[in-house]
Amino acid sequence: MSLLIRGIRTLVTWDEEQPTLTDAALVVDGGRVAWTGNASASPPCDETVDCAGGTVIPGFVDSHTHLVFGGDRTEEFEARLAGRPYAAGGIRTTVAATRAASTEVLRRRTARLAAEALRSGTTTLEVKSGYGLTVEDERRCLEVAAELTPHRTFLGAHVVPPETTPADYVALVSGPMLDAVAGVATAIDAFCEEGAFDGEQCREVLTAGAAQGLALHVHANQLGPGPGVQLAAELGALSADHCTHLSDADVAALRDAGVVAVLVPAAEFSTASPYAPARRLLDAGVTIALATDCNPGTSFTTSMPFVVALACRELGLTPLEALHAATLGGATALASDAGHLRVGARADLVALDAPSPTWLAYRPGVDLVRTVLRGGEVVR
Ligand code: NIG
Ligand code: FE
Repeated sequence: MSLLIRGIRTLVTWDEEQPTLTDAALVVDGGRVAWTGNASASPPCDETVDCAGGTVIPGFVDSHTHLVFGGDRTEEFEARLAGRPYAAGGIRTTVAATRAASTEVLRRRTARLAAEALRSGTTTLEVKSGYGLTVEDERRCLEVAAELTPHRTFLGAHVVPPETTPADYVALVSGPMLDAVAGVATAIDAFCEEGAFDGEQCREVLTAGAAQGLALHVHANQLGPGPGVQLAAELGALSADHCTHLSDADVAALRDAGVVAVLVPAAEFSTASPYAPARRLLDAGVTIALATDCNPGTSFTTSMPFVVALACRELGLTPLEALHAATLGGATALASDAGHLRVGARADLVALDAPSPTWLAYRPGVDLVRTVLRGGEVVR
């Protein structure tokens, strides 16, 4: 059955020659984009929907979330509102709550967050573990993620849990824990930061993951300068995430190694930290992605429209640069073929009640999403 979507004031396809079209239409057939072009040339279809002058964009690709966790950290957030700085140690609060939660509770809570993300237009979602930190708890967190997404990242190296020592824990994560999750995870990540793991410890974990065929991501240079970005470049990671504190050599390393810089401005918003140098990265030729980093500590939001608004206002991106990073950029960070609406693409798309993508930033906090299609199915 073919579906004609017409009445599109602005259609964003990221086609190489014509990335955006005005007064456009799009045909979905067999769950894929079958045709795009000027509305006046639309082919006949079995069904028609009218966007009434709205915008159609590729579904958001949220390439960095920590969606599986127990409890929340309201008190820590309130302390930050009163001026206390963020520190990595707060992760342990969530580790205790996650270990205490039944798998059924984790499943329900994670599914609710994934549904919330989908309603705001996220059709591709990466989910990390990292709040279990035992063999059994990391495995069940990844199994919960596996019910929701093909993009599942093992983040055993999030912090050292209280019951062990750094050396023993790194050996556990790179050995028995990795063995237990390698069949469920598709990628591995490590938090390379003061208070978490140093460069050598991250190298050990990431190299072990790569040997099991997992793709690599690195939490890098979030709270201060450090070796994370260089490590991501050296190991050929898909992405270096956060990238707040970068030297010129870090920027050059990302560009030369083709590592995507995944920027998470909602974390900087929530922790009142400096924003990542997005403009510097783009101008140097680095591919950037925007993601929510949804987690109970630094960024408790699933909203990619909010992230796009922040990127325009606080990171100095144009609306189209921000939207590109939030769709195709995210897909690149996940080595996914999502994130665009060229003919043949999976029909993952969002219809906005807005004449252009600029309204994502111009009308922040307003729910502009009218319809979401995933694989051609209307899911909102
Ligand atoms: O991406 N940086 C490490 N992990 C999360 C924060 C985790 C937490 O505080 O619970 C992040 O910001
Ligand atoms: Fe994160």
